Amino acid sequence: MVNRRALLLALLLPAVTAACKDKAAGDPTPAASGSAEAAPKKVVIGMSQCNLGEPWRVQMNADIEAAAKAHPQVELVLKDAQNDSLRQRAQVEELAAQKIDVLIVSPKEAAPLTKPIADVYRAGIPVVVLDRAVQGDDYTVFIGADNIVIGRAAGKWAREALGGKGKLVELQGLMTSTPGKFRHEGFAEGLAASDNPGLEIVFTADMAWLEPRARQEMESALARHKQIDLVYAHNDPGAHGAYLAAKAAGREKSMKFVGIDALPHEGIRYVKEGILDATFLYPTGGAEAIDAALKILRKEAVPKTIVLPTKLYTKENVARGGEELK
Ligand code: FRU
Repeated sequence: MVNRRALLLALLLPAVTAACKDKAAGDPTPAASGSAEAAPKKVVIGMSQCNLGEPWRVQMNADIEAAAKAHPQVELVLKDAQNDSLRQRAQVEELAAQKIDVLIVSPKEAAPLTKPIADVYRAGIPVVVLDRAVQGDDYTVFIGADNIVIGRAAGKWAREALGGKGKLVELQGLMTSTPGKFRHEGFAEGLAASDNPGLEIVFTADMAWLEPRARQEMESALARHKQIDLVYAHNDPGAHGAYLAAKAAGREKSMKFVGIDALPHEGIRYVKEGILDATFLYPTGGAEAIDAALKILRKEAVPKTIVLPTKLYTKENVARGGEELK
């Protein structure tokens, strides 16, 4: 008798567990009183962050943690690859081996992270790719703002601010990451230098998203060029590094500085203080990533790509909260 009951339980248990998993994934509703089986099942979300050395990434993690907190059944496992693609690759593999329910990953570079991410996805673990893309489509959803649109808007802004004439410096983000590539391509389109022969990019360098590198590159640009009218940096730390170099040379007032990210305590503050002339919002997508992860676990449809909105901040519009870009 006891044995038959045990057998029945053993047969039923996987089905009960599966039902709990389906129901509980994104559902914070407390269990019906006294029914242990209906309690929301814990879901483990692994997050692989490429580095936490920049304010924007610290903000992304804070957004993820705040969004996860609203769902008590979510356990977050956060990893920081310290700006090293090989370390990130190992951490993605470790997370998958820990039997996470969903992987969120913001990869440092596309090429070295494509295969490890595809392996996780093909092993049946849903993958949310955030901000920097991978190659191919072996992931569940990509979330990020459109960097071509942002770059194009920055190019148009620069062209208009210079009245179609001037010498520019472009400090690029890591060109092995997709935002660097797209912010460059979009900028060239928006600037339309071939239709505006008075506009010339006189100096270009890859500052790998890092403020100290941007400052160093800008020192070279200043040493080589007597005239620089505008600096376009692919992120606000880069624009700030360029500003500091120009200021040290006593030349910051003769040029404009344009960046991207628009964190309240970074880019937006710089615009308010007159350090930057323009910055474009690049939302972290942290809250959207948790939302997508829970939808996937509830088996709800999630689009392959979620495009986040952007905004332009200048000294004219910053007090009223910037201007949305279409
Ligand atoms: C942070 C950062 C941001 C930038 C984003 C691009 O690591 O450099 O400043 O907008 O990454 O992926």
